[in-house]
Amino acid sequence: MDFNEPAGTNPADRGTVLGKSTPRIDGPLKTSGHAPYAYERHDVAEDQLAGYPVFSAIARGRITRIDSAAAEAAPGVVAVIRSTDMDVLGKHGMNVVPHFGGDEIRHYHQAVALVVAESFEAARAASGLVRVAYDAEGHADYDLSTHRDTAMARKAEPDQDVGDFAAAFAEAPVTLDETYTTPCQTHAMMEPHASIAQWDEEGRLTVWSSTQMVNWLVEGLCSAFDLDPDQVRVDSPFIGGGFGSKLFMRADSVLAALGARATGRPVKVALPRPAIANNTTHRARTIQRIRIGADRDGRITAIAHDGLSHTQPGGDGENSTAQTPFFYAGANRLITPRLVDLHLPEAHAMRAPGEASGLMALEIAMDEMAEKLGMDPVEFRILNDTQVDPGQPDRPFSDRNFVTCLRQGADRFGWADRNTTPGGRREGMWLIGHGMAGAYRGALTMNSGALVRLRPDGTAVVETDMTDIGTGSYTIIAQTAAEMLGLGVDQVEVRLGDSRYPVSSGSGGQFGAPSSTAGVYAACVKLREEIARRLGNVDAGSLDFADGRVTASGRSTSLAEIAADGEITAEDKVAFGEFQDDVLMATFAAHFVELAVHAGTGETRVRRMLAVCDAGRILNPLSARSQVIGGMVMGLGAALMEELAIDTGRGFFANHDLAGYEVPVHADIASQEVVFLDTLDPASTPLKAKGVGELGLCGIAAAVANAHYNATGLRIRDYPLTLDKVL
Ligand code: MOS
Repeated sequence: MDFNEPAGTNPADRGTVLGKSTPRIDGPLKTSGHAPYAYERHDVAEDQLAGYPVFSAIARGRITRIDSAAAEAAPGVVAVIRSTDMDVLGKHGMNVVPHFGGDEIRHYHQAVALVVAESFEAARAASGLVRVAYDAEGHADYDLSTHRDTAMARKAEPDQDVGDFAAAFAEAPVTLDETYTTPCQTHAMMEPHASIAQWDEEGRLTVWSSTQMVNWLVEGLCSAFDLDPDQVRVDSPFIGGGFGSKLFMRADSVLAALGARATGRPVKVALPRPAIANNTTHRARTIQRIRIGADRDGRITAIAHDGLSHTQPGGDGENSTAQTPFFYAGANRLITPRLVDLHLPEAHAMRAPGEASGLMALEIAMDEMAEKLGMDPVEFRILNDTQVDPGQPDRPFSDRNFVTCLRQGADRFGWADRNTTPGGRREGMWLIGHGMAGAYRGALTMNSGALVRLRPDGTAVVETDMTDIGTGSYTIIAQTAAEMLGLGVDQVEVRLGDSRYPVSSGSGGQFGAPSSTAGVYAACVKLREEIARRLGNVDAGSLDFADGRVTASGRSTSLAEIAADGEITAEDKVAFGEFQDDVLMATFAAHFVELAVHAGTGETRVRRMLAVCDAGRILNPLSARSQVIGGMVMGLGAALMEELAIDTGRGFFANHDLAGYEVPVHADIASQEVVFLDTLDPASTPLKAKGVGELGLCGIAAAVANAHYNATGLRIRDYPLTLDKVL
């Protein structure tokens, strides 16, 4: 459908339900334990067996032998599946490392066998009896820091090379040239990867799983098992977080399907927590050199960002330069994203891939430049705002209110009263610091479909394969349908996560909220047209839906009456058009942080955080706020704690569980405030909304780092800011 309709004619603009803070409709189910997660779906298939994987103990080489005799003889064991007994299984297009099969080891903790038994305990016990012999490859490369010479690397994306950076930088009276590093990170979502698989007599596969992208898992399973999409069903109604780790098929669903095929019974497999960091994907490490030149008034004349990252051969890494072509003005620009192939586990998307790491560096660099210029860092950013693509000035931003974020944030935070001398404010043993940073995250949209049913009782049902990974999809979809049909949120039933429903955007890249609600909007428009037809071919645009009734030409009819003879269904999808190519769509924020660093121990306590966010229409301020404060917590982790420690000799992440990989929680932050500008982005979607889930993370770590510098006078450019770097 074409959603570029004249302003004011969109029924969703009414804002009766949309845009109102609405508690999550799945909240009571989740908090009371009644929302079934993938591993807990005991009721969906009878006689379930449990599978427990065996993981590789080397990072690179070949399996020479798998001896499973002792495991097969162990109590309760039904089958042992061995990687060496089969070919490499098809891999999903967007990951380069396959999940099972063959004798080649590509990364540590690769799954090499699966023990299937009558109970989880029996499978786990027997897994320890499987003996695997390897021929380890001596020469392997796990250390990005040995590749600082970027001539070795390949291009991750095309360069941005505009004007003459070298000349402008050489001429600039004020310059900065610094290198920043960010470590590998793991998603650390609450629910592990888990699946239950079952085959029927006709060779059809059903997988109850935990995935962000139902349709991508269908595609992955089709490719792995040589099936057609109509032979695969995926069901994923509740997901305990993903952060990108569940975008693609993982070993759990492949192993469960293999176990079920071998035993003829349903098999469930969860990846044990200590295997997740190395078996799945992670956020790659980055080394970022940033150069900025400015005139004495603070106008940026030259900017360069060399971003180096790593991945498995052929894969994607972390493009830390993602924001730099677009965030700040400057006529001369050189942006060079580079990748090095290493033999660590495959690096891939983690919440705000690219910008999350890139802004950790760029927004410290901006703080350092402001200091060199003797400028307020807020004013420095305002001066260098741009309303167009700096590399392509005929391409405007569809809606960019970054300056408003900065000004409102500074006002609300009391920025004028901040400490202006690094290390200059002390309360007893605590050094007090203030810092800020800007945030940029692209606003993607993905085609999305939905089906809506008007039931004879006048209530509605929405069906789409959209997922709710803890973000609030159920609720914003109910709000959308309620708004479009003049119903209350409690009169809309939302069914998600089943591949039998229309294909949606899924949850990723902060495109889920704007895209999936656009699909629901489209289906509701179609339903309204059908209702108009039934009311005697009246003009659908003239219909008014409110309080469970529809009014046409002064005549009011209840929706129950209209559907009295049977359910009315309508299905449609939004395909995002090329007109989006003419504009840049992104989301923005300004972050402000006050913290205290203990002068004796180096411990950091965050006192308050404020985010002012610009992300189009906010569909549900309550769940949007939850997304942003969750991102702030994650950003604090990135700043102070989170780091997958690489064993560069043996090629694995050493701290691969939640005891060794520390993440903060909300209670670690005394006060978090979130403000949304709540504008309308006319180019984004029919609801003029954009996502906030990744924006909430972007820029936070740099705001913390800048406040830390302000408190201590010590500039740390190597994340995380752990005590050893402070003392
Ligand atoms: Mo996001 S990293 O696309 O789930």
